[in-house]
Amino acid sequence: MGTARTQPLWTPVDTATADWFLEGPVSEAQDVVIVGAGIAGLSTALCLCREGRRVLVIDRAGLGAGETLRTTAHLASALDDRYYRLARQHGEEGARLAAASHAAAIDWIEELALASDPPCGFRRLPGYLFSHDGDTDNLRREAEAARAAGLSAELVGEGEEAPAALGPVLRFDQQARVDMGLYLLVLAKAVRDAGGAFLRAEASAVEGGAQPCVRLREGEVRANAVVVASNVPFHETGATYTKQAPYRTYAVVAEAPPETLPDALYWDDGDPYHYVRLQMPGDAADPVQVIVGGEDHKTGQEDDPTAYVRLQEWAKARFPGIGRFTHAWSGQVLEPADSLAFIGRDPDNENVYLVTGDSGNGITHGTLAGLLITDLIQGRDNPWTGLYDPARKPVRGGGEWLRENANAALQYRDWIRPGEVADADAIARGTGAVLRRGLHRVALYRGADGHLHAFNARCPHLGCVVRWSSEEKSWDCPCHGSRFDAASGAILNGPTSEPLSPFPWEKAS
Ligand SMILES: Cc1cc2nc3c(=O)[nH]c(=O)nc-3n(C[C@H](O)[C@H](O)[C@H](O)COP(=O)(O)OP(=O)(O)OC[C@H]3O[C@@H](n4cnc5c(N)ncnc54)[C@H](O)[C@@H]3O)c2cc1C
Ligand code: FES
Repeated sequence: MGTARTQPLWTPVDTATADWFLEGPVSEAQDVVIVGAGIAGLSTALCLCREGRRVLVIDRAGLGAGETLRTTAHLASALDDRYYRLARQHGEEGARLAAASHAAAIDWIEELALASDPPCGFRRLPGYLFSHDGDTDNLRREAEAARAAGLSAELVGEGEEAPAALGPVLRFDQQARVDMGLYLLVLAKAVRDAGGAFLRAEASAVEGGAQPCVRLREGEVRANAVVVASNVPFHETGATYTKQAPYRTYAVVAEAPPETLPDALYWDDGDPYHYVRLQMPGDAADPVQVIVGGEDHKTGQEDDPTAYVRLQEWAKARFPGIGRFTHAWSGQVLEPADSLAFIGRDPDNENVYLVTGDSGNGITHGTLAGLLITDLIQGRDNPWTGLYDPARKPVRGGGEWLRENANAALQYRDWIRPGEVADADAIARGTGAVLRRGLHRVALYRGADGHLHAFNARCPHLGCVVRWSSEEKSWDCPCHGSRFDAASGAILNGPTSEPLSPFPWEKAS
């Protein structure tokens, strides 16, 4: 089961990889078990296989079925959270290491992509940061901080390189793009060719130790090392969910003639910001695809289906040449309080490693996680260890940390509110709502066939009341971003380790 209902641009890999999975339970002890077959899990798997380790990758939904094939795949060392902020939060040396680590991730992707035929739509190109409100002070400040961090960044006048509608832009060299569907397949195939194995199963817990254990819904697997690359940890560990906040982000695709805008990456500096890139057609006679993303909001807190329309209007105002819109989808990103992912040793579980807090740079964060975690498992020093240490307290991102946790705490007020509708009859086919039944809150979804699916609306993670997402047709938790399938209550996103529990609706009504 994927993480959402909307369909992204990239070709899914499930048909091509359907017969790659092991049959039945795996009882013998493994060398390394990785939970999660997204960019982070597969990159780590390939790095470890290349070191001669025997790797088993476990995923409940198949390869790339999480956020990785919902990405827009800007490959950027020009990080979303700005270098002037990174220098404040992590010091100038930390900002330099962050720049170097993301550049190394792009190099790694480039090597794998260019060695394949076709080369996965990989291309080096410039990235342009532009002002959302015409104030260029922010661009100047970022130019200085980015150069201090070792990037090539130069302010370019209006219309000189990028469309004039964007105003002056800050150009970053050596950024890149890739076709994520093609790249993920190449990456997974490289894991398989290097001896890695895949198992389709859901993990419910991880326990550290000399031989850590991954508990599955049926059975368990032991290994010398476990890597939790499930996007959000689902097991007991250092309360990472308090150090990062889940956001939904939206993307649309429009067709356009090739001259509409130069092939580059584009971002504005708004909050939330917009991001733009091109996808080139296989056949030169076909239109170029312009991918536009943004309109982020906290998961479960603003069910607003007009996000796509706002993105379309935003794009049409800046790129008048664009034509019909062909795709629209959304996905989840985790914003860490101090801007950088949590990658490394699990502070609470021996021989367990984590990668989470991907932010809008999750493709490069996930790739560099492969390099870093492999060094840690192989007992080698890595200069990025301290910067990404999952045990760190986001002290200099403390304001953001407090704000996000206060916001999560506020969501518990749903317990004292009335239900969204008084009666199940008010719920149309294909929609859902939370009702009150005595002390209970019931999450009720009416399927397209009219059948009602009822669940206890209490999120199994820490007890918030889930909310209906009309756009993805899922139950989303406004506290820490757990998401559940509308009809089955199955987990779509962590940190919960348990699905929604069924509610005996017939008996209660
Ligand atoms: C619209 C959008 C645009 C984006 N744009 C960019 C961009 O331009 N550049 C960029 O760098 N990043 C971008 N990102 C972020 C990036 O796509 C993600 O951060 C990244 O793909 C996350 O990869 P991952 O491997 O950590 O997680 P995932 O891809 O989510 O993989 C985790 C896997 O773990 C599995 N799993 C989870 N829990 C369990 C369990 N208990 N048992 C078994 N399996 C489990 C899931 O099924 C999933 O397959 C974007 C994200 C979105 C949504
Ligand atoms: S995700 Fe934490 S309470 Fe729901």
